[in-house]
Amino acid sequence: MSATFTVPFPELSLISQYFTDHLIEDEPLSPSELQIIARSVPKRRAAFSTGRKCARQALVRFIDAPPELLQGKGGEPIWPEGTVGSISHSTKLAGAVVASKSEVTAIGIDIETIGGVKQAMLPLILLDTEIEMINGKHNDAALWATLLFSLKESFYKLQYPLTGLWLDFKDISISENNGKFSFMQVKSSHDLSAISFDQIKVDWTVASDQVITLCYF
Ligand SMILES: CC(C)(COP(=O)(O)OP(=O)(O)OC[C@H]1O[C@@H](n2cnc3c(N)ncnc32)[C@H](O)[C@@H]1OP(=O)(O)O)[C@@H](O)C(=O)NCCC(=O)NCCS
Repeated sequence: MSATFTVPFPELSLISQYFTDHLIEDEPLSPSELQIIARSVPKRRAAFSTGRKCARQALVRFIDAPPELLQGKGGEPIWPEGTVGSISHSTKLAGAVVASKSEVTAIGIDIETIGGVKQAMLPLILLDTEIEMINGKHNDAALWATLLFSLKESFYKLQYPLTGLWLDFKDISISENNGKFSFMQVKSSHDLSAISFDQIKVDWTVASDQVITLCYF
């Protein structure tokens, strides 16, 4: 198995990316980072360690010696001054994206295994319009279900550092037009005014049985 994985979004110059399919506990962690996973099972320790490794590798474009990355109260990584970023790990892949705060306000990524989103979950995580979208994809329905779920997780990671809000899956709707995805707030009392919905760029890709989604503005 290779130690690094190809860059999934090669055309994005503003964003530094590092992905790997080698999920092991080999990143030197600071005492405070180690504290975060002190009581975690080995699988979680490996995922955390690999995520921190990816994040520091992605940060190198902006910072010579990337520091420890601690956790905010919502579980979000605390990125170094002047940067924004996001981390994700599945059972097979981990990755991080980082950008300069002067160019990108917020960013989220997510990795999911295609088929992990079962039919019975759909009414819990998707709106009727989104389920209709999936039903229209016939042979690709499993991919699309995973894709929409992953896009919502990416959006959640994008918005949390700006709003501090926990959002339900049905608080946000996804629409697709000619292959371009956009997010909209479903009528709710949440104040999402910090999110420039019409400026969010969305990208996604498939690598083997993994879906990787990215959103940023
Ligand atoms: C937090 C959540 C998005 C993580 O997604 P996941 O698919 O379970 O796991 P991933 O491996 O993709 O991501 C985990 C990483 O996300 C990051 N993360 C966790 N909480 C976060 C938050 N509140 N904001 C931003 N990033 C966060 C962390 O870096 C974490 O890895 P680490 O703990 O090793 O640092 C998910 O568990 C969750 O709670 N979702 C419910 C809310 C939601 O998604 N609603 C959709 C609304 S549209």
